[in-house]
Amino acid sequence: MEKTIEYIRSLIIEEDEGLDAFRKAQEDKGVPIIRKEVQQLLSLLIALSGAQRILEIGGAEGYSAVCLARAAGAQADITTIEIDEARVAAARGNIETFGLKDNITVIADSAEGFFSHATERGVYDMVFLDGPKSHYAEMFEDCLRLLKGGGMLIADNILYSGMVSGEAATRKKHRTSVEGLKKYLNEITKDKRLITSVVNFEDGLSISYKKEVKNETQT
Ligand SMILES: C[S@@+](CC[C@H](N)C(=O)[O-])C[C@H]1O[C@@H](n2cnc3c(N)ncnc32)[C@H](O)[C@@H]1O
Repeated sequence: MEKTIEYIRSLIIEEDEGLDAFRKAQEDKGVPIIRKEVQQLLSLLIALSGAQRILEIGGAEGYSAVCLARAAGAQADITTIEIDEARVAAARGNIETFGLKDNITVIADSAEGFFSHATERGVYDMVFLDGPKSHYAEMFEDCLRLLKGGGMLIADNILYSGMVSGEAATRKKHRTSVEGLKKYLNEITKDKRLITSVVNFEDGLSISYKKEVKNETQT
């Protein structure tokens, strides 16, 4: 599996030197950013769906937000939520460096805090969950509430390097996350409001499409 994923990664050519250098700097610093194949798939999904208004939970230092904004183009309107104040400050600086200040809003808050007052900000074309794995299931209904019909809810690291399926042993410190991810996967795969696909990348990615509710009185 590892060799296959490395091969897939080697096929992805980053055309932007600035973004490539940003990835490298984040990796060197140990910031857990989205993997290259996830970045590529998100770009594809944004291109296919035309998503512009995107909510991200877990912004870290802004790497994925910059990728999402680049993929969504000039009208990109990205909101990213990050709980760690040092990361918020770094994200704001990085976003400014990329000239994306007008396209990306970084909110210094917990996802839970944001959800409690998020309704007035309207609905999103896409929600990207990349925050605390153990809380994905608890965040599910809020994410769905903030997602438009026809929008996509995407969650990263959903297979947690084989620990969720049992292919890899779950280390004690990851137990709560693994349980939370299993719960989330059970919910999204059974929920009739969604069409969900789980992608078996190294760490896994779930993609859920929120069905549009048709008005039955219409012909
Ligand atoms: C995997 S990192 C995000 C990486 C980022 N999406 C990227 O690819 O550049 C997860 C982030 O979620 C943040 N986080 C953890 N718990 C959170 C919470 N309850 N609310 C908001 N952010 C949270 C962490 O501080 C961390 O920076």
